[in-house]
Amino acid sequence: MKVAVIGVGHVGLTTAACLAADGHEVVGLDDDEARIDDLQEGAMPFYEPGLDDLVRAEAKAGRLRFSHEPAEAIPGAEVAFICVGTPTRADGSPDLSAVQRAAATVATHAQSPTVVAEKSTVPVRTGERIKQALALEAQAQGGASAHEVVSNPEFLREGTAVEDTLRPDRVVVGADTERAHAVMRRLWQPLLDRHDCPYVATDVRTAELIKHASNAFLATKISFINSVARVCERAGADVETVADAMGHDPRIGRAFLNAGLGYGGSCFPKDVQAFLHIAGDLGYDFGLLRETERVNREARLWPVAQLRRLLWNLSDKTVAVLGVAFKPGTDDVRAAPALDVIEELSAEGATVRIHDPVALPNVRDRFPEVTRAEDVTSCLDGAHAVLLATEWDEYVQLPPARLAQLLAYPIVVDARNAWDADALRAQGLTVARVGAPQVEVLPGL
Ligand code: UDX
Repeated sequence: MKVAVIGVGHVGLTTAACLAADGHEVVGLDDDEARIDDLQEGAMPFYEPGLDDLVRAEAKAGRLRFSHEPAEAIPGAEVAFICVGTPTRADGSPDLSAVQRAAATVATHAQSPTVVAEKSTVPVRTGERIKQALALEAQAQGGASAHEVVSNPEFLREGTAVEDTLRPDRVVVGADTERAHAVMRRLWQPLLDRHDCPYVATDVRTAELIKHASNAFLATKISFINSVARVCERAGADVETVADAMGHDPRIGRAFLNAGLGYGGSCFPKDVQAFLHIAGDLGYDFGLLRETERVNREARLWPVAQLRRLLWNLSDKTVAVLGVAFKPGTDDVRAAPALDVIEELSAEGATVRIHDPVALPNVRDRFPEVTRAEDVTSCLDGAHAVLLATEWDEYVQLPPARLAQLLAYPIVVDARNAWDADALRAQGLTVARVGAPQVEVLPGL
């Protein structure tokens, strides 16, 4: 099938490449000309494992093209995906102006009835607004809209976006007509033929809600375990063991019960805020999500409190922060917990050195005064404490003896519970872990 993908950010580019891999003829459209030029040259706009190879292979096979001209992408497309950004406005609501512009682009350039598929995470009932935008645009051009609107949310994670899209847990499609459902079924049939997963067919509003409900639930799960961690610290219990034991219950499951710095990234913070706002607009106060957000903000302050406790004054101390990306496997620093930590440490007068295997260029402008270390060794060398903020493998695999040798003071704050605490202690290091009994620098204090 011929497919247009409007917006080639993380979601759009991954969707475009994976649809091409399943045999569709896809054009990625974006008004960012520099981005399109780069993609045409085979250069990726962001880091996503495996996506560069897939994009290049599909482009070479002629199934994937890129353009900033709607006239090259929209005419003839049976399905036009809207994958544009929906940034948060000051009041917490999502800014949907790019979604409306994308709808207008389809209305202006489509030459036959097109199924317009929302993939950007949008508030419930946005489908109706898109339909209205299509109708108004058609009317302005002296006709009537024959386009249909469906919701086809994605659940891809950064770092595993290709795998999540090629082999999803479920495909969710919300449509209000049989014809639109039939088109979307045809689109996803190659995927369903090679990969066994449920195909959830619903109405548009329900599909829109599934996405927000899923992300808000996962974020709440993380805040729940972070609250349990706070209780464990005070009670002298261990949150990892609590989470493992809880996870044995299939009704709970172990996934997303890792206490730490809380959630960041481009989705959870934005989606929780948006869902809270949407529910409020509909007359329901979803207070649980406000609490999810509060606990998440609190989780980000945990390492600074630990460093203050273990180092006393931070003003003349050097802290090595390992990791700035919001999670391993990505160079994305949007809403990354490490950024708040770096800011807070700097505000308290600490000298901060940071390292990340891929994300450092993305924080250059935000922290011009912070030392961006070229390698882990120079980051750690002579620092008074190390803070593990993102659990990259490269950090998790560091030999404890090396840490002990490089640090000026033997202080380790593991904000992701990723290091083997016993192995570190065996090297004489004092280790603060999330949701564990509090440690003191001097044994016996
Ligand atoms: C998320 C959803 O998982 C995905 O389905 C959706 O489409 C987009 O949002 P992503 O933002 O890539 O994906 O990250 P994810 O792997 O879900 O992690 C989100 C954040 O939660 C990260 O900051 C991570 O460190 C944190 N997290 C995750 C925890 O703190 N504890 C956990 O147990 C799991």
